[in-house]
Amino acid sequence: MTDQLVVVGGGNMGAAIIGGLLSAQWIAGENLVVVEKSSSRRTFLSEQFPAVRVVERIEDASPRDVLVAVKPQDAEGVCLALGEAGARRILSVIAGIRIRHLEEWLGKEVVVVRAMPNTPALVRSGVTAISPGRFATDTDLSWAEDMLVAVGKVVRVREELLDAVTGLSGSGPAYVFLVVEALIEAGVLVGLPREVSTVLVEETLLGSARLLIESASTPEELRHSVTSPAGTTAAGLRTLEAHSVRSALIEAVVTATERSRQLGSS
Ligand SMILES: NC(=O)c1ccc[n+]([C@@H]2O[C@H](COP(=O)([O-])OP(=O)(O)OC[C@H]3O[C@@H](n4cnc5c(N)ncnc54)[C@H](OP(=O)(O)O)[C@@H]3O)[C@@H](O)[C@H]2O)c1
Repeated sequence: MTDQLVVVGGGNMGAAIIGGLLSAQWIAGENLVVVEKSSSRRTFLSEQFPAVRVVERIEDASPRDVLVAVKPQDAEGVCLALGEAGARRILSVIAGIRIRHLEEWLGKEVVVVRAMPNTPALVRSGVTAISPGRFATDTDLSWAEDMLVAVGKVVRVREELLDAVTGLSGSGPAYVFLVVEALIEAGVLVGLPREVSTVLVEETLLGSARLLIESASTPEELRHSVTSPAGTTAAGLRTLEAHSVRSALIEAVVTATERSRQLGSS
């Protein structure tokens, strides 16, 4: 168990990680302090996590180890205040803000680990990539990894690859939801009631994901196993290939990665 953690920003992502940390017993509630600007959100956090101290200002929190989960436009002000208040180690989940900026605003030799989570973290099924800053050691990366495991899987990459992570797993849930929407509409088109189509598609998604993760087979092998010669699946797959679905997905990830690079350099 960790001694002390300050979380700055108790919004969606901050609260999801706090919930995960408490239920995984990574930290005791009384060792956690949340700094949250919004008073309605402070009330919500106090109700949700009664053992946790919720404060308004960074100066009220004595920050040392810190998780920063504010929006990008608040990053500079929060880092300047954390540097002033003596923070020693920061895990940032702020999208698009480069480590060199975080280090510059924090000043001195504050340890920075940058993370790119995705929205399934809200239900503790996320996947997060982490990258070390200039002063981060392997111990610091393990600290960040242990924390984020509370909301899903964690991989380590160099910071240059975080734009690719953003384009793939960061934006990935939206690609999957688009496919789900289209399949539900398709079910309705071929005559199924909407509620039935929705259950069939959602469970197909969940079941396929479980099968993929729990079996030793590759996606290609699993696809072959449901594609019998001259059968229905072969006919459906032929239509998907004719409409370049594979190539469209590849292009989507490439474009989202380029967009992440553009946003990060501005
Ligand atoms: N949500 C996701 O799935 C997701 C995925 C990947 C990355 N991220 C990153 O995670 C970060 C947080 O996202 P979110 O969705 O959790 O945002 P959010 O719900 O807006 O939460 C941010 C919270 O921080 C508060 N805040 C702002 N400045 C503060 C300060 N100086 N001191 C204390 N609290 C402060 C905000 O209060 P006010 O509303 O009053 O400003 C807000 O309640 C973002 O940088 C985002 O890019 C999120």
